[in-house]
Amino acid sequence: MPIITCIEDLRRIYERRVPRMFYDYCESGSWTEQTFRENSSDFDLIRLRQRVAVNMEGRSSASQMVGQDVAMPVALAPVGSTGMQHADGEIKAARAAEKFGVPYTLSSMSICSIEDVAAATSRPFWFQLYVMRDEDFIARLIQRAKDAQCSALVLTLDLQILGQRHKDLKNGLSVPPKLTPGTIVNLATKWRWGFEMLQTQRRQFGNIVGHAKDVTSINDLSLWAHNQFDPRLDWEKVRKIREQWDGPLILKGILDAEDAKMAADIGADAIVVSNHGGRQLDGALSSIRALPSILEAVGDRVEVHIDGGIRKGQDVLKALAMGAKGTYVGRAYIYGLGAMGEKGVTTALELLHRELDMTMALCGRRNVANLDREILLVPKGFDGEWE
Ligand SMILES: Cc1cc2nc3c(=O)[nH]c(=O)nc-3n(C[C@H](O)[C@H](O)[C@H](O)COP(=O)(O)O)c2cc1C
Repeated sequence: MPIITCIEDLRRIYERRVPRMFYDYCESGSWTEQTFRENSSDFDLIRLRQRVAVNMEGRSSASQMVGQDVAMPVALAPVGSTGMQHADGEIKAARAAEKFGVPYTLSSMSICSIEDVAAATSRPFWFQLYVMRDEDFIARLIQRAKDAQCSALVLTLDLQILGQRHKDLKNGLSVPPKLTPGTIVNLATKWRWGFEMLQTQRRQFGNIVGHAKDVTSINDLSLWAHNQFDPRLDWEKVRKIREQWDGPLILKGILDAEDAKMAADIGADAIVVSNHGGRQLDGALSSIRALPSILEAVGDRVEVHIDGGIRKGQDVLKALAMGAKGTYVGRAYIYGLGAMGEKGVTTALELLHRELDMTMALCGRRNVANLDREILLVPKGFDGEWE
């Protein structure tokens, strides 16, 4: 077994073990991938203040996100088709999150269904919703999330239309993969992935097939999904969903101070400052750069979370010290899942936790719940002086 010291080690193993089509689906952004790259590289521009001779015993990374206790403020972000990265991937990731004590967010576009994940776990998870044109389907999906005791609804607002990711088009991405000569050659080298996939029945979108009108097969599904993302989504529709969900509502995909204020006005419990991991509007600001102006705009009116580009515990610490109350990782745990299943997700969480804890200590702090900008060296004009 290789010695794994960082998330990048997991990414390398993941790249070897998972079919190219699904690796590329994860490891890409839209168009030129500028925003995808800057999500991570902008974290590196922020430096840390080393402090000494401060008692570092008795540290804690425990905190709360939307009023729920978390072992560290790092949730697993919703990632569509996770069950294609590893057989029963959503169940494996949810179990790892549950054991670690952090929230798991199940995507609407998951392979394992809400009911599958609920049956395989013993603590509530969060459910992510995309707004689709079929309002009955949405109402039933929300009801299914309630029946499964999901403890927060994460409503994603930045995918009314799908950003173009060049590699997906070139690879002919499909779920399950279409067997072209190219994919057959590639799949032949991923025997471990294929062997595990053959052991499960879960190989299509579990929340949709058999639940949405006229979708009973994989062929109906691609047409349905293509036509369903609702380009007419507006704040009125968000308000209606707020009315349908009594529990914590988290609005995901906010990158602008004005939108953050709207989210607070609507009564969201939290927002996620996010550009969908650089997969939607290429050329948008990285999440960490967008964070300060959003915090300034909403203050304490709504809890502010962030995702995008987090690959290290140090990134988590920087986001928290900038003022975010919670963070999410997407690719960082998918690398672990693709590399080693549930154990890999646990390893990713352990790595992030260790890096977060040690960095906090070396900055002279003992508690993640009360970090502040004092520990950061932020370059002048970091959030940018844009016109
Ligand atoms: C392969 C992949 C699939 C994703 N699918 C969804 C999804 O179904 N719903 C959603 O709200 N966000 C989705 N996202 C965005 C993530 O929730 C999250 O915003 C992003 O991954 C954060 O960036 P990071 O991967 O750099 O941590 C997806 C991201 C990736 C990489």
